[in-house]
Amino acid sequence: MIMQDELSIKQATNIIKQSKYLIAMTGAGISRESNVPTFRGADGLWKQYDAMQLATPDAFRANPQLVWEWYSWRQDLILKCSPNPAHETLVKWEQKGYLKSIITQNVDGLHRRAGSHSLHEVHGNLWTLKCTSCDYHDQLDAPAVGVPICPSCSNHLRPDVVWFGENLNQEIMLNVYSELDKADVCMVIGTSALVQPAASFPLLVREQGGLIIEVNIEETPLTPLATVHLRGKAGEILPLLDKLIA
Ligand code: OAD
Repeated sequence: MIMQDELSIKQATNIIKQSKYLIAMTGAGISRESNVPTFRGADGLWKQYDAMQLATPDAFRANPQLVWEWYSWRQDLILKCSPNPAHETLVKWEQKGYLKSIITQNVDGLHRRAGSHSLHEVHGNLWTLKCTSCDYHDQLDAPAVGVPICPSCSNHLRPDVVWFGENLNQEIMLNVYSELDKADVCMVIGTSALVQPAASFPLLVREQGGLIIEVNIEETPLTPLATVHLRGKAGEILPLLDKLIA
């Protein structure tokens, strides 16, 4: 590791140690080392698939079979993946009391599978289903087969994820804003920081005098605003920070 990285790592360690209310915001990059594809990288999902045909309410109305085929494929892929050392470090930090909560854009469920409890999934969860017509919700533990039907009203069930053009869940957002309000440090891990409103969450912490630690393999629009940018893989950097904190 070069000198500059060592300094940044040291600075981040001190910030974490001195934090009073540390939160983490995560994106697809934290699950990359678990082999879950990201959205915008060279092999990202949105490079291979058209979001407008797969991840909008109109797309689902037009072709629920196609949309479910894609989500079942992703469920199958994620079922074969396991949480990596980055997810595991966040669990450890929560248990030790350093980390107060995680705000994640990920729908893969890997934070929960790793054992994180204080978790806000702002884009929903791939394993939860909701009815397109009534209030029915259900939980899957295996990939969906075909287009699941609501046992309550016989309409189509859909994945309980936020699609393009949809609002985020209000109850979840109230909890998220309450966490952001309390935070003095926000660790931003593996997100391109391009999708709103999530991309602005760390800025809210910064506006109230808080600090931002960014962990990413590359620079993002957030990098110039971060207190420290740690360039590298989340699955390597988080365990390293953990070692230094101990
Ligand atoms: P993106 O695919 O946009 O960005 C992934 C980020 O992770 C990039 O900045 C990569 O450089 C970084 N990255 C990749 N591998 C990494 C690693 N091993 N360690 C650390 N960083 C790594 O994913 P998101 O920012 O999560 O929304 O995308 C945000 C939203 O856009 C998603 O939640 C999804 C998508 O459309 C919905 O589905 C609503």
